[in-house]
Amino acid sequence: MLSKTPPTQLKSWKRLKELSQSVLAALSKSPKEIRLGNPGWRIDLGNMVFDFSRNLLDKEVLIELERLADEANIREGYRQLISGDEINETENRSVLHPALRNPAAFDLELDGLNVREEVESSLKRIEKFSNEINSSKRTGFSGLPFTDIVNIGIGGSDLGPYMVTEALKEYWKPGIKPHFVSNVDPFHLDQTLKELNPQTTLFIISSKTFTTQETMANAEAAKSWFIGNGGNELQVQDHFIAVSTNIEAAQSFGVDKENVFGFWDWVGGRYSLWSAIGISIACTIGYHNFKKLLKGASKADKHFKDSEFKQNIPLLMALIGIWNTNFLGAESEAILPYSQGLHRFPAYLQQANMESNGKAIDRSGNPVDYSTGPIVWGEPGTNGQHAFFQLLHQGTHLIPCDLILFSKTNGEYQNQHDMLLANGLAQAKALWEGKSIETVKKQMGNEKSAQLTAPFRFFQGLNPSNILLFETLNPETMGFLIALYEHKIFAQGVIWNIFSYDQWGVELGKEMAGKLLPILNGKDSNDLDPTTSALIETIKKWG
Ligand code: F6P
Repeated sequence: MLSKTPPTQLKSWKRLKELSQSVLAALSKSPKEIRLGNPGWRIDLGNMVFDFSRNLLDKEVLIELERLADEANIREGYRQLISGDEINETENRSVLHPALRNPAAFDLELDGLNVREEVESSLKRIEKFSNEINSSKRTGFSGLPFTDIVNIGIGGSDLGPYMVTEALKEYWKPGIKPHFVSNVDPFHLDQTLKELNPQTTLFIISSKTFTTQETMANAEAAKSWFIGNGGNELQVQDHFIAVSTNIEAAQSFGVDKENVFGFWDWVGGRYSLWSAIGISIACTIGYHNFKKLLKGASKADKHFKDSEFKQNIPLLMALIGIWNTNFLGAESEAILPYSQGLHRFPAYLQQANMESNGKAIDRSGNPVDYSTGPIVWGEPGTNGQHAFFQLLHQGTHLIPCDLILFSKTNGEYQNQHDMLLANGLAQAKALWEGKSIETVKKQMGNEKSAQLTAPFRFFQGLNPSNILLFETLNPETMGFLIALYEHKIFAQGVIWNIFSYDQWGVELGKEMAGKLLPILNGKDSNDLDPTTSALIETIKKWG
C-alpha cells in the first residue's frame, strides 16, 4: 500500500512553503508586483492543448511541484489502482474504472472473476440492448418503438449520464429522447412523466446499491404511473430495466433477470458512467458513439500513465491545484466551460471532486492539518460572465479557473461560435493581465472623473487560470476530458494522503432523514433537538 506520510513532512512540501512566502507577499501589494507564469507553458497533443501559462508560479515552483509528485509516489499509486489493489481501504474495495474503457488491458482476477471477461461481456449486453432500442427491434408492450428513456438515479447514477447526453445532443439518435429524474421531490418525476406516453417510455432504474431512498421512491412511483396509465404488472418487464450491483433487489422490484445490467463493487458511483450505468448514453447516442467515449477516456488513461511529469496534463492540473489550495490559500476552483452543451459539467465535477477529496482524515486515520479538496463550482461561459465574473475580476478571493474551449462548433453558426471563443480567450487574458490605474486614467481622459472613478475601474489581474482547448466536442474528446479530471482528482488524493474512493460523509444525513420521516408522518418523538422539533411542528400545522 502507498506510504501514509503526511505531505507536510515531505521535503518538497517544505520547500514549496518557503517559495510561497515571496509570492504571497508580492500578491498582497496593490498593484501586484510580480511576474509569474510563462507564455511557453502549454502541452499540445495535436487536437487538444492544455495551456497553463497563466499561473502564480515560476520554474522553481514547478520543479518543486514535480518533485512533490515524485515524493508522494503518484506512479506507484496508479500502479496499485490499475493492478486491482484494494486502495479503497475503508470499504475494502479495488478501484478499477480504467478497466471499463480498455478491458483488454485488464486480464486480472478480482473477487474470483476475470475483469476483462466481465467487462467485455457487459459491453456486449449494452451493445445488444442499445442496438435493439435504436433499431426498434425492442418495443413497448403495444408494439410501438420506444421514443423516451427515463433514467431514474441520483449522484453517480445520474450526473454522469445526464451530463454526457446533454453535452452530446448533436449525436442523439433520431426518435429517442432521454430524461433524467434524480430528486425525490415529486415535482421532478411528475413534470417528466406529464409529457410521456407509457406505451413508448422505457425506464432505466440506475442504482449501484438499489437501496437509495430517492431512487427507490421514484422507481416505485414510475411503476405506479405506468400501471395506472394502461400498462400492467407483467408489462413492467418490457418497460423497466435496471442497472445495479444488487441484482436480487432489482429483480424483486419487478425487473426481468434478462434486463438487469450488473456491474461491480470496484466501480465507484461517481466513476460509473463508463459501466452499464452509461446504458442511457449508449441508447441515446448509439453504441458506436458510446465506444468512442470509452476510447477517449482510455487515451487519457494512457496519457496519465505514460507521460513524463512535465507533459502530463492531469498531473499538472493536480499540482497547480495543490499550489493554489495549499500554498496560496485558494478555497475554490471555478469550472467554466465555453460550451452550452457542457452546462452540467461543473455539477458533475462537484460530485467527482468533492465526494472524492472532501476529506479531513488522512490515510492513517488522523486529522489533517492542511486543506484538501476545494469547493468546485461553475457555469458555462458566456452566462457566468454576466453573473459572477465581477467577483473573479475585482473581488477579494483567489479563485483559480479552468476555461474549457472548443475551436469549432458542431452546428452551423461558426460566426457566433467565434464570439463565444473570443469571450473565453478574453476572460482568461483579462483575469491575468488586469488593467492598471494608469491605463484606466489614460483611457478616461477627463482628469476629474478619472480621479473619482479610476479605483473602481481598475483590475488587479494575476488571477490564475488554465485553458483546455479542444478542436471539437465529440464523444471521444468528451471521454478524454472527463478522464483528465478523474486523474487530477486521483493524483491530488494521493498527495493529500486521503482516501478518495469512499464517501462516509454522506451517511449521517441519510440516517437522520430515515429517523425524521416517521416523525413527519405522525410518530411521536421526545428526543428531537428544539430547532428540528419546532420546524416539524410548523410543517404539521401547515398540513
Ligand atoms: O449518497 C452518495 C451516493 O452513495 C453516491 O456516492 C452515489 O453515486 C449515489 O449515492 C447513488 O447511489 P446508488 O447508485 O447506490 O443509488
